[in-house]
Amino acid sequence: MTGLSLPPAHRATSAHVGALFPFMAEPVLGATGPYVGRDLLGGSFCYDPFDLYAAGVLTNPNMVVVGQIGRGKSSLVKTYLWRQSLLGAQAWVIDPKGEYGPLARAWGVEPLTLAPGGKLRLNPLEGASMTAARPDDRRSALLAALAEACLGRTLNPRERACLDVALTEAAQRNGGRPLVAHVVDALLRPDEARAGALASDARTLSEDGREVALELRRLVTGDLRGMFDGPTTRGLRVDGPLVVLDLSAVYGSAALPVLMACATAWVQATLDRSTPRPRLLVVDEAWAILSNLGVARWLQACWKLSRAYGVANLAVLHRLSDLRAAGPAGSEQVLLAEGLLSDSETRVVYAQSHGEAAASQELLGLSGTEVDLLPRLGRGVGLWKVGRRSFLVEHRLSDLEARLVDTDARMAGRPGPERP
Ligand SMILES: Nc1ncnc2c1ncn2[C@@H]1O[C@H](COP(=O)(O)OP(=O)(O)OP(=O)(O)O)[C@@H](O)[C@H]1O
Ligand SMILES: [Mg+2]
Repeated sequence: MTGLSLPPAHRATSAHVGALFPFMAEPVLGATGPYVGRDLLGGSFCYDPFDLYAAGVLTNPNMVVVGQIGRGKSSLVKTYLWRQSLLGAQAWVIDPKGEYGPLARAWGVEPLTLAPGGKLRLNPLEGASMTAARPDDRRSALLAALAEACLGRTLNPRERACLDVALTEAAQRNGGRPLVAHVVDALLRPDEARAGALASDARTLSEDGREVALELRRLVTGDLRGMFDGPTTRGLRVDGPLVVLDLSAVYGSAALPVLMACATAWVQATLDRSTPRPRLLVVDEAWAILSNLGVARWLQACWKLSRAYGVANLAVLHRLSDLRAAGPAGSEQVLLAEGLLSDSETRVVYAQSHGEAAASQELLGLSGTEVDLLPRLGRGVGLWKVGRRSFLVEHRLSDLEARLVDTDARMAGRPGPERP
């Protein structure tokens, strides 16, 4: 059973199959890396972005997994992380639906569950302490993205300047380790001397930064408080093979993109950059973060940076037309979608409607044959575009893995996956 709705199989050589499906006329990718499943052209399909990157086959290790609901995208990612961990990799997951818990528990770790007013706090401004007089670019970009996401518009130059001044101020007042609350405070009560450096005064600065302050305040005292508004909770276990950030308590919230960005920022600051251990950072349900221009821009910049730290980023989403539809042709949203795709040289495409496949043909680099094929793919079968090469792969699950990834069980009200 391949899951591919094609006529009954008949015997053919790979040369014949290659002629029938020109997109697949490729030798196998190589036998290194975790096993993914069956190459429908014949043989096993293994994939390791770190090896392929090191060998110069790929210019970046990032991956996008796209496909209709329930086709097996998350299952692929979960088992892939499981198999990568056996080779020593560590995975960090932003989990908006709260579905990676069984996988984490199978490793003996509990997901880090974030909920408004909950017990766990993560400081998204964490990282090496700030000593420089000028604002830290990474933190500054994050705060601007969060403010833009909350305000629903781009910050004007005055607001950006206020934010940078407030961030520097907050860091200096708090030993180089600012919290969002400190930045809000510094925005509302700017320092007169710093205002002078902008040829302004504290009152004007306070007025210019007021809207930004009030929106960021939501994370501190408003509806989103109690998650990203304090020092990171002590004693968190982040050295295991898997670290899951469960955001399911806010899955239905309009603020989900903001919270996912905070969680991702904390992960990126916390990743130990000195280790040679390969790391994967997964953003499941990435449409949420990418549908918001401010945080999408920020995420794309992070993807570029993380390559330098040996981190492979992996985004899971339903369809690419969401990204394109968010703006007119040539708009920044479209450019971002294109940039993200060009920063992700591995694209795994599960079943798509013909219209969707045709709309994403250029973005995903699909041939006409591939566009025609995509609507016919069954559950668990994906078209892998690895650089310029294409493979049709049936993802295989062991019994244990099948239990760990079963999201249908919960949908049907049956008991969820058990701990093995
Ligand atoms: N390769 C596979 N073989 C058999 N069953 C599979 C396979 N992949 C996934 N499934 C089953 O399909 C169901 C849906 O899978 P999954 O949750 O991974 O889909 P998804 O594409 O991530 O869905 P969504 O878009 O809703 O997030 C799961 O219950 C899982 O057990
Ligand atoms: Mg999923």
